[in-house]
Amino acid sequence: MPEPLVPGAQPAPAPQPSPDEPSALLSPTSLQGAALVGCGSALPVASLSNGELIGLVDTSDEWIRSRTGIGARRVAGPGETVTSLAAEAAGAALAYAGWLPADVDLILLATSSPDDLFGTAPRVQAALGANRAVAFDLTAACSGFLFALITAAQYLRSGSFRRALVIGADQLSRWVDWEDRRTCVLFGDGAGAVALQACEAAADGVLAFRMHSDGSRNACLTLAQGEQQRPLVGQYSAQVGGFSPIRMNGQEVYKFAVREVPAVLAALLAHTGIAAADLDWLLLHQANQRILDAVADRFAMPPERVLSNLASYGNTSAATIPLMLDEAVRDGRIQPGHLIASSGFGAGLSWGGALLRWQGRPGLRMNATA
Ligand code: UT7
Repeated sequence: MPEPLVPGAQPAPAPQPSPDEPSALLSPTSLQGAALVGCGSALPVASLSNGELIGLVDTSDEWIRSRTGIGARRVAGPGETVTSLAAEAAGAALAYAGWLPADVDLILLATSSPDDLFGTAPRVQAALGANRAVAFDLTAACSGFLFALITAAQYLRSGSFRRALVIGADQLSRWVDWEDRRTCVLFGDGAGAVALQACEAAADGVLAFRMHSDGSRNACLTLAQGEQQRPLVGQYSAQVGGFSPIRMNGQEVYKFAVREVPAVLAALLAHTGIAAADLDWLLLHQANQRILDAVADRFAMPPERVLSNLASYGNTSAATIPLMLDEAVRDGRIQPGHLIASSGFGAGLSWGGALLRWQGRPGLRMNATA
């Protein structure tokens, strides 16, 4: 008899898909929840300190630390790609959950820096050997992981799929302007993943969510297609594919974040009747320590309950939330049953929030690969 995923809740029956079964089950089911049962992460080897950036742009360790909380960032080197990082993170989440690759029905890869614009998730599927899974990309910048988690949860709740791997992976070092000190000091590369399993409604791990977009403010933060034309024949020309580097109006995005993130979290707390004091963790997109502090202040969350790894990794875009989750689960801070308020925000503009309950069993933690 498996132990309950949430104290007091009935354990979810373990689904047993056969290798021949189509990935979409599309049959009525009593499993109307989605439990977070595994996590993993992966980082490039090279770590670039603030001090090392001084050789590149006119900046200082003091400026970067005091304005952002960032001390270093990882930068993908030869052979390290969104695919390899995502597959490593997802493989660790799979092992943590105790699944086999053939158990996975759905792989959702949140990324804004795909290895292949046609889709990078299928490459991850192949690397994992998760042959039954349907795999596709989802792009919502720094909100991407949260949007993907919520999307995957809907497939599980509807009975369409039973096991999903949700990955956030980005390699923005490809797309920053390394001569622009306003942006190049902020971003880093990495990947994180969560294993999501259909469960009974009582054990649901995605307690409430909100998602928002405001395209009228898109220009605040872009990684946009360039405008170069190539003459074809006669009067015809075609646009040349290629993206301009990241451009950001930092102050506008900062103001947007400190206004919208508390609003979305307050709406979730009001909707569920959960008090801020009952939250175990605040797990926000890691963009700026000052944003984390401002949101924590709004909910009177003490600093020790606000998760931050900005000092080590900077802003890894879609990867920040699962990367941070994995770190805090593996070092024992996040325990089974803990309640987490999470929010992603960034380009689009896009933002969202979710109240999550972590249900990965601690016994599996010891067997999981790093
Ligand atoms: O992940 C997506 C979501 N992104 C965010 O949430 C980011 C939100 N924005 C921010 O975190 C902050 O706005 C930044 C960290 C990007 C910038 O901090 P700031 O306090 O808003 O600085 P600022 O843009 O107002 O710039 C202040 C000064 C400027 O100099 P002047 O014009 O006052 O002489 C900048 O040129 O700081 C200068 N500056 C720098 N100086 C040293 C900008 N970048 C740097 C740098 N080193 N790297």
